[in-house]
Amino acid sequence: MSVLVTGGLGYIGSHTCVELMNSGVEVVVVDNLYNCKKSSYDRIKALVGKDFKFYECDIRDAEGLNEIFDKENISSVIHFAGLKAVGESVAKPLEYFDNNVNGTLVLLDVMRKHGCKKIVFSSSATVYGMNNVSPLTEDMEVGGVTNPYGRTKYMIECILKDLYTSDDEWSIVLLRYFNPIGAHKSGTMGEDPNGIPNNLMPYITQVAIGKREHLNVWGDDYDTPDGTGVRDYIHVVDLALGHLKAVEKAEKENGLFIYNLGTGVGYSVLDVVKAFEKASGQDIPYVIGPRRAGDIATCYSDPSKALNELGWKAERGIEEMCEDSWRWQSTNPNGYPD
Ligand code: NAD
Ligand code: WQD
Repeated sequence: MSVLVTGGLGYIGSHTCVELMNSGVEVVVVDNLYNCKKSSYDRIKALVGKDFKFYECDIRDAEGLNEIFDKENISSVIHFAGLKAVGESVAKPLEYFDNNVNGTLVLLDVMRKHGCKKIVFSSSATVYGMNNVSPLTEDMEVGGVTNPYGRTKYMIECILKDLYTSDDEWSIVLLRYFNPIGAHKSGTMGEDPNGIPNNLMPYITQVAIGKREHLNVWGDDYDTPDGTGVRDYIHVVDLALGHLKAVEKAEKENGLFIYNLGTGVGYSVLDVVKAFEKASGQDIPYVIGPRRAGDIATCYSDPSKALNELGWKAERGIEEMCEDSWRWQSTNPNGYPD
């Protein structure tokens, strides 16, 4: 029996494939290579020391997915495939709804036709919106989202909840990730954004290797200890291990389960800059700029439900996240090879 991993060559998917295979789980990957390089596949193989199936296929391609389900013995799906750039989603809402929402509908329909009713979905802390106060718990109201990307995550959560209401043979795990950073300890896998990074850590690492002059800190007048935004950064390997627990849960039990995957600790932008400087020995010059539209002051999780129900807890601290991000960036200044 295999786990189908959609978007499995991307940042979080690739780290999850490594942890799944290291635990003896067979994986089959589907990715359309839109936001990753094929060499990510070679890096995963090299790390686990064994081959696995990869299909270059778009999740909106029902025929392609059907053939994969016909050929492979798939017991459950971890669904990472999606577009994730907040700013781009404002400019291209139709593309985001088509890729993320329509893509998920096509996938779910193919799964149902093949009697595969177990799915772990990559949701996001963004579904908590602007109005909830941290620490965020899974029972808080969701949906006050501010951009099309966030709306796709909220809509997919709604679709999956309705699906479970219609048929309780499904096992659905919604994982709400906080801010994934870090990289594999080997330095051979990490985050490889196209163009100018939107997220904090890849921007910092590009300043550190000299690709960008300075970091722009988006606002220092928030109601936080140093005025800069506070977030719950989580090491991507801890996140990957959370998926292992989630898929085990889905394999064992029917139901609709929702878990935050975060550390429960908030760090400000300047805390991250300092931690990175310490871990890397590099200076990170920064300039304070205006607030970024749609940002909130503070966002961190209460991760206790995942501990109580999955036995999962993030183990890696901010120093290790910074060290591992730096090892990846400094040894792969141009990311994955073409
Ligand atoms: P990523 O872009 O590195 O990985 C996504 C992968 O999906 C890419 O390899 C891309 O080529 C593939 N893909 C996209 N559309 C596809 C399609 N239609 N068919 C097949 N493959 C497709 O992103 P990531 O950071 O690894 O994120 C994975 C998931 O987690 C996404 O759904 C994202 O929205 C969600 N998420 C990410 C973060 C974050 O900060 N990185 C936070 C919360 C949630
Ligand atoms: C973190 C902090 C910025 C860049 C986003 C998505 C969210 C989720 C994770 C997918 C904030 C500040 C950033 C920079 C800065 N993704 N910052 N200068 O905004 O918390 O979350 O990624 O689901 O949906 O919205 O993450 O890394 O962009 O920002 O000062 O160049 O760093 O203002 O306070 P964010 P981020």
